Amino acid sequence: MAYGKQTTTDEVLEGKDLSGLTAFVTGGNSGLGQETGRALAAKGAHLVLAGRDQVKLDEAAKAIRSETGSETVETIICDLGDLASLAACTEEARGRLEKIDFLINNAGVMATPFEHTKDGFERQFGTNHLGHFALTAGLMPLVMAGEAKRIVNLSSRAHHMGGVDLDDPHFERRDYNPWASYGQSKTANVLFTVELEKRYAGQGIHSYAVHPGGIDTNLGRHLTPEMAKALMERVQASDANFQWKTIPQGAATSVWAATSEEVAGRGGVYCEDCGVAPVDDEAEDRGVRSYALDGESAARLWEMSERMTGVSYPV
Ligand SMILES: NC(=O)c1ccc[n+]([C@@H]2O[C@H](COP(=O)([O-])OP(=O)(O)OC[C@H]3O[C@@H](n4cnc5c(N)ncnc54)[C@H](OP(=O)(O)O)[C@@H]3O)[C@@H](O)[C@H]2O)c1
Repeated sequence: MAYGKQTTTDEVLEGKDLSGLTAFVTGGNSGLGQETGRALAAKGAHLVLAGRDQVKLDEAAKAIRSETGSETVETIICDLGDLASLAACTEEARGRLEKIDFLINNAGVMATPFEHTKDGFERQFGTNHLGHFALTAGLMPLVMAGEAKRIVNLSSRAHHMGGVDLDDPHFERRDYNPWASYGQSKTANVLFTVELEKRYAGQGIHSYAVHPGGIDTNLGRHLTPEMAKALMERVQASDANFQWKTIPQGAATSVWAATSEEVAGRGGVYCEDCGVAPVDDEAEDRGVRSYALDGESAARLWEMSERMTGVSYPV
């Protein structure tokens, strides 16, 4: 079957048996994360839903159990805006789990006002990038113990808005712009993928960045009506054929990147519409910008992220 924009999670996973494999999904209580978890659990994967609110996690886990019949859905508290919470989460995960096969770094915030995480990081860079950077470091021993050994980082076409300002990632010396910040954090997600691949491909761990498409989820909760209107005008101007995806269509590329044979052993790439996207510095309606795949920027971002979070990765 040829995959594309309309392919759903269940279509990607048709015929697959994920019994015995463990998936850890951040932002698992909402939108794309919940659907990614549901689809993987439906194929037998042991599912760990990570989130910052136990009530929301319990509701999502209950819904997934009743939709899939799975009896192995568990939850874990993980606040990506708080390094102490991440340290506690990864310690608990290492105690509870034997391995992680699919680490889906899916949680995110978009276009927030100028705010800071508990550790003083600008909120979007801190949550979307630094939080997942620290979480992944703590979970790496479990990924190393997995069989599938895949990491999926949710990026976005919003990375077209710009690179990472490696000299001022927290907007301390430039005016804050919620979109520049979101775009920066989503480019950081791709650069993180590139450096993960460079460091861990030799150990059989492969990493994939994903643009899910445009999907109506809770992600727009920080948009004022004016911002939402301007965003839609921008999207329609850059993509004449734009169509919203359903949530199962949006989560399809995440489960594809986690399980497809087509990209086995071939990480460090940016995927959209259930395929590897071309490098393109011009097109507004597709592709990955070359600055997001730049090895030197990826290495600098990694070193800076280690310094800022104080975590270190196992070798
Ligand atoms: N929807 C789209 O059109 C689109 C397009 C491109 C990329 N993406 C990316 O797709 C990913 C999933 O987004 P979505 O559309 O499914 O949005 P969503 O429904 O808003 O889900 C986002 C998830 O992230 C969690 N989260 C936010 N801040 C967190 C924190 N500090 N610690 C832990 N969890 C946190 C949220 O938890 P709470 O419920 O507790 O807030 C929620 O579970 C994001 O990375 C987003 O950037 C989405």
